[in-house]
Amino acid sequence: MAPTDLTPRFSTNDVTVVFFLGGPGSGKGTQSANLVKDYSFVHLSAGDLLRAEQVREGSSRGKMIKEYITEGKIVPMEVTVNLLSDAMAESLATNPPPAGTKARFLIDGFPRKLDQAEFFEASVCPSELVLFLDCPEDVMESRLLKRGETSGRDDDNAASIRKRFRTFVETSMPVVEAFRAQDKVVTVTATGSVEEVYESVKAGIEERAPEIGFHGGAFLWL
Ligand code: ADP
Ligand code: C5P
Ligand code: MG
Repeated sequence: MAPTDLTPRFSTNDVTVVFFLGGPGSGKGTQSANLVKDYSFVHLSAGDLLRAEQVREGSSRGKMIKEYITEGKIVPMEVTVNLLSDAMAESLATNPPPAGTKARFLIDGFPRKLDQAEFFEASVCPSELVLFLDCPEDVMESRLLKRGETSGRDDDNAASIRKRFRTFVETSMPVVEAFRAQDKVVTVTATGSVEEVYESVKAGIEERAPEIGFHGGAFLWL
């Protein structure tokens, strides 16, 4: 987003990046599973990568990440951008897309802060599209409290959830607004059933980026 002297690690000729945003509990992970099936996306969740790094043996950043996550704060961006960039490189090396097609990455829960967006687009790859799940806090809260019964996550409790909502409004919504100003955002109401929300996600993709729909469905037959 911001002009810098960095060069992106991946070219948009080889890679399509779709950011998947929405408040905590809006359903990003759930809908990502559907999108992976139908559109051949590689799903990368920033939160999942951070949680894996938090518990990785030998990681010098585990304690720091745990503190940020429990407080619902945004982890310093270099950590998250590097984890994502390396995960993309590993996916391209171990699971390259069919010849003549671009790899597609669905990057879930990222960018959550303007500096992450700017640094990623300048040093990793500019994004093609932003999917935004729009969901009221009361719905997200009840989903998260229910998820917390089994998720084992440090942050699916009432105190952390309040902090995460605050971070979302103050820090992450400005990212959505910045992408909206670039006309990159597809907004989907996330209050219906999983199936209803997915129908709206698909309709939004077909309308705003039909090449993603075509390519995903078509290359299986090539
Ligand atoms: P996020 O990744 O955005 O934090 P998740 O996909 O993990 O959200 O969803 C949060 C919780 O809500 C999960 O337990 C999930 O099963 C549930 N959930 C997701 N979408 C819906 C929906 N449309 N209706 C009801 N529950 C949902
Ligand atoms: O997306 P998810 O809910 O799994 O993220 C959990 C936590 O991970 C966030 O509340 C935040 O502390 C951290 N995170 C981050 N930067 C991101 C994504 C997640 O700091 N882009
Ligand atoms: Mg998630």
